Amino acid sequence: MPAPQSTPRIVITAGPTHEPIDAVRYLANRSSGRLGEALTLDALRRRWDVTLLIGPINTRADYTHACVERFTTTSDLQKLLALYAPRCDVLVMSAAVADYRPVQPIAGEKLRRGDGPISLELEPTPDLLAEVAARRRPGQLLVGFALEKRHGMLESARDKLHRKGIDAIVANPLETMGAQTIDAALLWRDGRTQTPAGPLSKADFATWLLDRIEEALPGARTEARTGSPNETC
Ligand code: CTP
Repeated sequence: MPAPQSTPRIVITAGPTHEPIDAVRYLANRSSGRLGEALTLDALRRRWDVTLLIGPINTRADYTHACVERFTTTSDLQKLLALYAPRCDVLVMSAAVADYRPVQPIAGEKLRRGDGPISLELEPTPDLLAEVAARRRPGQLLVGFALEKRHGMLESARDKLHRKGIDAIVANPLETMGAQTIDAALLWRDGRTQTPAGPLSKADFATWLLDRIEEALPGARTEARTGSPNETC
């Protein structure tokens, strides 16, 4: 086996985005961010160099040794990825990024109730993962998540993996969002599919997934970090 090289630098994104409608309302989804948090804690346990980009969720976990940056909107996360993605060896994109956002949020004001219906004009958000993939450095490992209906889940996730130009994708059934357990499959660009032996808690799935990622890193880069915490923040 090749000699270990250096401490893996991992960027993990977690949680939902909130897309403003007006000064007090937003469009969101039910992502709890718990899997991204479990991945962060497991990566810290491995003494990897960890950056967590976390959305608008409450968290009580101890991330003392990670670089933690907060985002609210897709646009915030886009800026953070532009800063942090080029420096990482692994990106795990578990954030539930909005697919659409209001075209013209009303800044500083509240939309007033009237008598008739109103409609909200939405525009597609940029595909952040595809953007990172388009600018990737050789050797970076990019892992996405696909939330899909159980029927046709693997086909749809595989299609997404190729469309976004990433290395691997975790295919999740819709019920995973907000649930305690995860019953997912990991699909690789070379056609392999890996599945854990049954539904796992999010903490156990995080360990399983990082084990698979660690196996795929060039030279199995598992050397423990020494000295001070993450210096990239
Ligand atoms: N993603 C992203 N940028 C977006 C939407 C999603 O980077 N604007 C990322 C998610 O973080 C996830 C992966 O892309 O890792 C797949 O997200 P998903 O919502 O399942 O797929 P979409 O690209 O939105 O496709 P669809 O709407 O057809 O499900």
